Amino acid sequence: MFFFAGLEKENTHPLPPGSFGLPLIGETIDFLRDRNFSQRREQKYGNIFKTNILGRPTVVMTGPEANRFILDTHFDHFSWHDGWPKNFKELLGKSLFLQEGEEHQRNRRLLMPAFHGQALRSYFAIMVDTINRYLVKWSQMKYLTLLPEMKQMTFELASILLLGSKPGTKTTLLSQKFSKLTAGLFSLPIRLPFTTYTLALKARDFLLNYIEEEIREREKNPAQDALSLLIKTKDKEGDSLSLEEIKVQALLMLFAGHETTTSMLTSLCMALAQNPDILAQTKAEQEKLKQQGKLSNEQLKQIPYLEQVLKEVERLYPPIGGGFRGVVKPFTYNGYYVPQGWQALYRIERTHQDQRVYTNPLKFDPERFHPKRAEDKKMDYSLVGFGGGSRFCLGYAFAQMEMKIFASLLLRNYQWKLEPNQDLSLDALPSLHPRSGLKILMIKNSDG
Ligand code: HEM
Repeated sequence: MFFFAGLEKENTHPLPPGSFGLPLIGETIDFLRDRNFSQRREQKYGNIFKTNILGRPTVVMTGPEANRFILDTHFDHFSWHDGWPKNFKELLGKSLFLQEGEEHQRNRRLLMPAFHGQALRSYFAIMVDTINRYLVKWSQMKYLTLLPEMKQMTFELASILLLGSKPGTKTTLLSQKFSKLTAGLFSLPIRLPFTTYTLALKARDFLLNYIEEEIREREKNPAQDALSLLIKTKDKEGDSLSLEEIKVQALLMLFAGHETTTSMLTSLCMALAQNPDILAQTKAEQEKLKQQGKLSNEQLKQIPYLEQVLKEVERLYPPIGGGFRGVVKPFTYNGYYVPQGWQALYRIERTHQDQRVYTNPLKFDPERFHPKRAEDKKMDYSLVGFGGGSRFCLGYAFAQMEMKIFASLLLRNYQWKLEPNQDLSLDALPSLHPRSGLKILMIKNSDG
């Protein structure tokens, strides 16, 4: 590639090792198809290599040091907005994902109260009711594919708690529209009638109109949901979000708020079913608490072993494999030069398998997070399933609460088994999941 060769000469440092692949498509097909794309290249080139994916020269950087460089110490060299593919920019609008600098900080500040403190505690009862309803339904179905069911549940929770939707038909319709929108995020952006992308744009418009109607309703009659809170939240300067801002931010929250949680909860059910000793220990912890009374906000703070298990699911089955950024200032890393205009990819999944940090990294072993071992504390930025630095996941506390409630109710009242003969190998898009969708048999305990 003569264009890059020119840049190479301008600097005393070489470009990272690696290959740009074929003209135009570069190594995109390999990247999308091969789950070991990074691993293979790391073995050949080390923890920084170049490639060309999704239409751009790209540097892939792996490990806690690289995460710290991108997410923290050299944060100003990277742009979020510039890192997202075009589809995301068009379908998710001017939401937090695509904002930078002061605008991003202002919006994040105004969104924060809906995901923390009192607001979060007020979501508890609805989370318990909704999750219980789904668990009963699944035990009545007995045999089910968990992934699509889980997606329906997490979407319903997000739309009830964030938008104040009523359970039932409306959330089913919203969920269908959302699936169309999500399909468009990972499709070719071809605007012909009935292409996946055109259907996604239509679904986006439908959802934005729906959210606008809900906002107008909340302005007249405030309710106990994040939308009402977003309407009335003002920062210290008395600043608040406009109608257009709330619309796109709410759409983003629905997207970010259910896809990833679906993935992690499905992996949790898979990992526990595959590890009977660990399952028994999580059940014992819940049995002890159950004797003290019904699940409560307070009890959620008293489940250290489940917290270890959730960290281990985050480590071994991170829903998002990595994060893209645009390179807005050139830099040198590990002796290699990376020009402005490239994109950078930090690798969550590969970091979590770093043998310098994690002993026997392919083993599902929640004990590694026991305070006595605390493997993730050896190096900063070695557990990054929710990102890191100033763009750390906004919904972390919301997701943790939802996952702890789900796991507690499941462990206290139900048994589940994996069906034989299913393909449990993992697919990465739209977020990590077993290919079979996880076929299970589920039974309610007689005393549940
Ligand atoms: C298991 C569940 C979840 C996982 C694993 C997860 C993971 C992540 C990751 C890795 C990032 C950073 C991506 C990057 O650096 O490129 C992120 C950012 C974000 N997440 Fe989550 N997330 C989860 C749940 C949620 C929920 C429930 C919400 C909202 C209700 C949410 C909203 C966001 C937002 C708005 C950002 C962007 C923050 C910013 O730019 O300031 N996430 N999440």
